[in-house]
Amino acid sequence: MNSDNQTPLLAVRQLRVHYRGRRWLPWQPAPTLRAIDDLNFNLHRGEILGVVGESGSGKSTLARVLVGLQGITAGSVRFEGRELKGLHKRDWRALRRDVQLVFQDPLASLNPRHKIGRSIGEPLKALYPEMSREERRDRVREMLEQVGLDGVDAERYPHEFSGGQCQRVAIARALIVRPKLLICDEPVSALDVSVQAQIVNLLRELQRRYDLAILFIAHDLAVVRHISDRVLVMYFGKLMEQADREALFSTPRHPYTRALLAAIPGHEAFRGFRARDGELPSPYAPPVGCLFVSRCPMADEQCTRRPPHYRRYADGAVALCHYASEFGRDGIVDLETAALAMR
Ligand SMILES: Nc1ncnc2c1ncn2[C@@H]1O[C@H](COP(=O)(O)OP(=O)(O)OP(=O)(O)O)[C@@H](O)[C@H]1O
Ligand code: SF4
Ligand SMILES: [Mg+2]
Repeated sequence: MNSDNQTPLLAVRQLRVHYRGRRWLPWQPAPTLRAIDDLNFNLHRGEILGVVGESGSGKSTLARVLVGLQGITAGSVRFEGRELKGLHKRDWRALRRDVQLVFQDPLASLNPRHKIGRSIGEPLKALYPEMSREERRDRVREMLEQVGLDGVDAERYPHEFSGGQCQRVAIARALIVRPKLLICDEPVSALDVSVQAQIVNLLRELQRRYDLAILFIAHDLAVVRHISDRVLVMYFGKLMEQADREALFSTPRHPYTRALLAAIPGHEAFRGFRARDGELPSPYAPPVGCLFVSRCPMADEQCTRRPPHYRRYADGAVALCHYASEFGRDGIVDLETAALAMR
């Protein structure tokens, strides 16, 4: 991680993203779906931040907010100190040089009728129109080699590549403009396990080479473990826990993190923390108390009645649970406001 931690590359404060749901009857108000609710975190230069959570926890919504594909309902998102809320279209264009996105399905993001050299060169053409054709061609070839492909692959079509190779192409296309932040939305979920490891290793290597910051989204803790410096655990739009990678895997504080760990091989110690088969909370009408109450093996009456506050641990981890202190009393403090729930 870069030592300049004064201004985070990305600072997210009290972020809310609400969608308008479908109205069942014409005279009823449209319900509000809380995709992200009061989210706070920092992402530092050169850091890899894992974001993990089950389906519907708001991960892709967060990715879309950060590239301007989704509006912000409330709160603030600052990139290098610059507020993204209400940013003009023209300014988003400039920001595209600095923030790039890689999707889960690489084939869907490549035009099947274009040779991949052309697809990889497109962002350069759009964002650096002054660049000559020859320069662009050289950059594409160089980038193909950086992601472990061959320069001559520029002349091939997407259907001629395997899933893993296509994801390498998508990574090359995102990195060709030398962004400061790469957002990877489940980049390995559609790949075989062996290929997943190769892509994760490639991203790690590229992160070091370019001193990139990466927001790496996955629904599986096992995947984020190999790549992240720090991890955010989300559940139905709320941050449940945030911790450095080692702390999260050795001493997970939140029962939800423990439940996620219990579901992956090699973490038998957390077997007693498996999530119960309770109903999932409704994103339209979240419960009064804790969001995880219906599935938490530790839930009691207090959890049903009162929402928990964030607590911070001596090692910087933060958890949203009434019983956070039972998972390590050392240095624990109640946070006055959720705005402090970040590193
Ligand atoms: N455009 C939209 N309009 C209305 N609701 C949406 C929209 N996009 C997402 N949602 C809802 O917002 C919530 C969060 O969705 P999101 O796609 O961000 O979750 P996710 O964590 O990426 O899930 P997954 O792991 O399945 O990709 C879900 O309840 C989803 O149905
Ligand atoms: S507040 Fe209660 S229900 Fe929520 S995670 Fe903690 S123990 Fe479980
Ligand atoms: Mg998603």
